[in-house]
Amino acid sequence: MSAGAGPALAAPFRRFAAVDCTQDPLYVAICQAVAEAPELLALMAEAPATQRKPNLLLAALHEGVLAGVAHPLRDYYPSVGGTRLPDAALPAALLDFARLERPRLIEHLRQRSTQTNEIGRCAVLWPALQQIAVLTGRQELALLDFGASAGLNLGVDEYRYDYGRFALGAPAAAGRPTIACDWLGDAAPPPARPWRLAARAGLDPAPIDVGDEAAVRWLRACLWPHDRERALRLDQALALARRAGWRVQQAEDCLAAVEPWLDGLPAGVQPLLFNSWVLYYFSAEELTRLRERLGRLVRERGLLWLSAESPAQRPPGLALPPLAPGAEPSTLWTLQSATGVRALAWSHPHGRWLQWLG
Ligand SMILES: C[S@@+](CC[C@H](N)C(=O)[O-])C[C@H]1O[C@@H](n2cnc3c(N)ncnc32)[C@H](O)[C@@H]1O
Repeated sequence: MSAGAGPALAAPFRRFAAVDCTQDPLYVAICQAVAEAPELLALMAEAPATQRKPNLLLAALHEGVLAGVAHPLRDYYPSVGGTRLPDAALPAALLDFARLERPRLIEHLRQRSTQTNEIGRCAVLWPALQQIAVLTGRQELALLDFGASAGLNLGVDEYRYDYGRFALGAPAAAGRPTIACDWLGDAAPPPARPWRLAARAGLDPAPIDVGDEAAVRWLRACLWPHDRERALRLDQALALARRAGWRVQQAEDCLAAVEPWLDGLPAGVQPLLFNSWVLYYFSAEELTRLRERLGRLVRERGLLWLSAESPAQRPPGLALPPLAPGAEPSTLWTLQSATGVRALAWSHPHGRWLQWLG
């Protein structure tokens, strides 16, 4: 680590503790400890410059804990049954763990990036599919999850959605994920209309194989250790995905794989491309290319394009819709068809709430 790099590396950890992970006392304490420990900051410097983010080191440490490394640090992690609250002994335990597990941590820091697959987003995807069935008059939908990760959002019709005042989706059953989501605002859900996924597939440059325990452990490690609800539904969705065998195709250039997917669909289905929290990986040039190419497929091939991204990545020219009390400008759901673009919903990035825009 070069002289002067320490403060630059420490600042994101201080910010993460003060702003980003305040709900997780363990992560607050770890980030504060890392910011004060030059040896741990030097570890962070092993990651490529663009990846030197607190989330990555936190996930690398969590992965070691989840992999079963026997060490007192485990006692602090609720994800492995730990009940010890952060205390004065934590910084020393952290340093000791990092020394013992250094090769494993360095491998993660050099080679991985944080990767999640959040089925909470299906609490918005499900009514969006219903809305699409209403708008198009088609019951047979074909879903392409672009940037699918492990492909767990392909199971949208297998999950249950509890919106408080009402529920949607599959019937409640043992082992079936139930996603709790606050339905904000006055808009009613789209009118009931039967639809089914006649085809489903995913694309990703780095898909997670749901049958590969080490790969799946990295998905779990990227969740925060105190959030047992997210961890449980991830495990339930993984079990469903293993049984169902939904396919996520690896493609360096996912955009080039969209047209062949369209070509292979049965006649009469409504094709829908869906991306959620993928476009921030794209440079401005890549985003322009994506918009041109998908725009052409929307106009010429009847593709619908459903995008759930940060408002900064919304389709050009679309005005930001007003927010209901309690909603924040976090994830904007837009639908592009041959007749234009409309905003469908605002939502929490993990689907904890949604504001339907009708
Ligand atoms: C934050 S994850 C979101 C995964 C999933 N869409 C979800 O909502 O849970 C972003 C995903 O985008 C994928 N990705 C990155 N660059 C991409 C690209 N150029 N084309 C398609 N997917 C990409 C990553 O591999 C990762 O699986």
